[in-house]
Amino acid sequence: MEHPLQAWRDTLRELGVVGLVREPVAQAEAPQPAGRAAPEAPPPPPAPPAAPAAYAPPAGPVACPPAAAVRAAATLTDLQCTIEGCLACPLGPGRMKFVFGEGDPAARLMFVGEGPGRDEDLQGRPFVGKAGELLDKMIGALGLTREATYIANIVKCRPPDNRTPTPEEARTCLGYLHRQIELIRPDVIVTLGATPLRELAGITEGITKMRGQWQRIQVGGREIPLMPTFHPAYVLRQYTQDVRRAVWQDLQAAKEWLDRPADS
Ligand code: URA
Repeated sequence: MEHPLQAWRDTLRELGVVGLVREPVAQAEAPQPAGRAAPEAPPPPPAPPAAPAAYAPPAGPVACPPAAAVRAAATLTDLQCTIEGCLACPLGPGRMKFVFGEGDPAARLMFVGEGPGRDEDLQGRPFVGKAGELLDKMIGALGLTREATYIANIVKCRPPDNRTPTPEEARTCLGYLHRQIELIRPDVIVTLGATPLRELAGITEGITKMRGQWQRIQVGGREIPLMPTFHPAYVLRQYTQDVRRAVWQDLQAAKEWLDRPADS
């Protein structure tokens, strides 16, 4: 049977991390120091997240949800109801499903990607295709679960042929993401790729240069540290040890920030 640590070790290896993790010792062969109790069994996997609160979809498309209604949304469910029928930019009419974002509404760690792809458009959920599988593995390697984080995108509707959203499309959607961030109040945002870095932090320099460098953004009067890293789809295309190691370093920096003692 696979040792419980093996999957974690394999994920770290895939991310290019070697030498950090000791090879798991097969349980049958594990040496037992004389007179000591056997090590405790690993903790059971976390309970599945509670079902999200039910929400009522809007009766019909809302060409442009009023900014006042977006600002007034008091919960993520309210916000989703307010904007879900949005047709404010050319992406709206082309979508199969609106991809609002998902995760813990009080997540300390938030990921922001570019925009839904084909799988996300079909399912109405962010990062559920190949790039999402890699993102899930990376989150798991940090010792977290996807459900404990929040995952959203710059645009909530799929750009045709998975092209980069235009600045106009991104800016039309940005007010929604800002309200989402205000409601979630994450302690750290990790941006995935160049588009969320440009739209959230106004940084147009290449992601290769900017990744790994802490930024700060202001959302709703709060300053939030932002760690830019590569998009998982780029990691899959450019599957070199350097790229994987870079992403791993960036994610670890974000996790270390979250784990730092409260008064530091
Ligand atoms: N790429 C993104 O940027 N976001 C998704 O949700 C999926 C793929």
